Amino acid sequence: MTNSLSQAQTPLLTALYECAKSSHAPFYTPGHKRGVGISPSLIDIFGKSVFAADLPELTELDNLFAPEGVINQAQELAAQAFGATRTWFLVNGSTCGIEAAIMATCGAKDKIILPRNVHSSVIAGLILSGAIPIFINPEYDAVLDIAHTITPESITQALHQHPDAKAVLIVYPTYYGVCGDVVSIAKKVHEYNIPLILDEAHGAHFAFHPDLPTSGLAAGADICVQSIHKTLGAMTQASMLHAQGNIVNYERISKALQLVQSTSPSYILMASLDAARAQMALQGHSLITQTLHISHTARQNLKKIPGLSVYQSYPYQGGLGGFNLDPTRLTINVSNLGITGFEADEILETQLEIRSELASLHNLTFIISIGNTQQDIDKLMQAFNTLAKMAPVNKNNTNLNSTKYLWNNLTALNNSLHISPREAYFAASETLPLDQTYSRISAETICPYPPGIPVLMLGEVITKEAVEYLQEVKKSGGFLTGCTDTSLKTIKVIA
Ligand SMILES: Cc1ncc(COP(=O)(O)O)c(C=O)c1O
Repeated sequence: MTNSLSQAQTPLLTALYECAKSSHAPFYTPGHKRGVGISPSLIDIFGKSVFAADLPELTELDNLFAPEGVINQAQELAAQAFGATRTWFLVNGSTCGIEAAIMATCGAKDKIILPRNVHSSVIAGLILSGAIPIFINPEYDAVLDIAHTITPESITQALHQHPDAKAVLIVYPTYYGVCGDVVSIAKKVHEYNIPLILDEAHGAHFAFHPDLPTSGLAAGADICVQSIHKTLGAMTQASMLHAQGNIVNYERISKALQLVQSTSPSYILMASLDAARAQMALQGHSLITQTLHISHTARQNLKKIPGLSVYQSYPYQGGLGGFNLDPTRLTINVSNLGITGFEADEILETQLEIRSELASLHNLTFIISIGNTQQDIDKLMQAFNTLAKMAPVNKNNTNLNSTKYLWNNLTALNNSLHISPREAYFAASETLPLDQTYSRISAETICPYPPGIPVLMLGEVITKEAVEYLQEVKKSGGFLTGCTDTSLKTIKVIA
């Protein structure tokens, strides 16, 4: 590392600020020329300074794809702060980082082991790379009706069956904050001398407090992709890809990132990464101590409200793949109020001025971060107290429990991949009535919520059982993502 700068410095943000102030006639992009030509309606709302800093790759500002100046320095400071050997700034979210991580480790027809409940960016990575997924079913939590993580044992088994796999990818933590045993998984994966990639989109804060789950890098993962914008102070889309060790080829990561990122990256987004890193390096511990404190208060008080069940601490320690829970992620089960998570969410949003991160049939999930205040938590408490009084305690609401355990009944999920997701994506497709799709190859990835585990995957053979399961979920009040025909009367198959 060539950086002699301290964590208090923000080389990229400082250079951007200097450029924004400098006096010159701009004959470069963007066309609004430092805000002079921007629509006045934008200035009215956001002021002038943000547009003065919306600059392209001027000499002082370095180049994201060949960083030698301030971007290089900012990335090196980030690597130091997060515990990586090398860090890349991302302007297209963790989405592009995950796609690049897969392309940097797998070529066409190479096998990659991964859980079935991955984010859509992973499926995009499979399509772009041509890699062959070896899916592991995540552990299913019938109490919450959601999918969790995968166990070290299931990884061991998959590696034993596919010793030629080129990489393993896991989600750490899940959307619900559940963290698998990544230390054991990393050790197992490294026995095969292949990389462990972490979709750590929701875990960027882990490196900055000992009371949070171990960060992916500290646990031994080779590549960790983090949405700095999700749980820390960067702007939306601003993310980072970190790598360590010598199993992965860093040049391949750089090259892959050039395929999936803009050649006009936003300096405002990149400067927000520089600033968020400095903020965490200097004050991360105290800011997160405060966040942990308000999260704890919220949990303690919410669980006293009748009808609510709060995911307090991971109840299945060592089971269901769960090993740890991010205490700043709050999942509240509202089924005992006699309403669905969707209904509760609507009441909170339209009547009680509370916006959640995620609603599902049974649960609501809230992200608590360094940007939340005690006042937010007080408001949340008040809102749930009101909701509990308003809600029709309808224990006979059959919808509420009807999707539960359905997943357990889907014993014979046929995961047989006939053609790669890439081949399926580019193949001609046709739309068929449901009962004519059995034994055909799916041209869609269809995922029921709950529990959020795709039942049909692009390139897989469609079974009668899978289709009946999807129909059952829909009938029971769940919803499906990924199907062109949301009524599920037809499915797209490979022609
Ligand atoms: C588990 C997971 N991985 C990856 C992503 C993609 O992250 P980004 O929004 O930064 O592109 C998301 C986004 O919601 C996610 O939830």
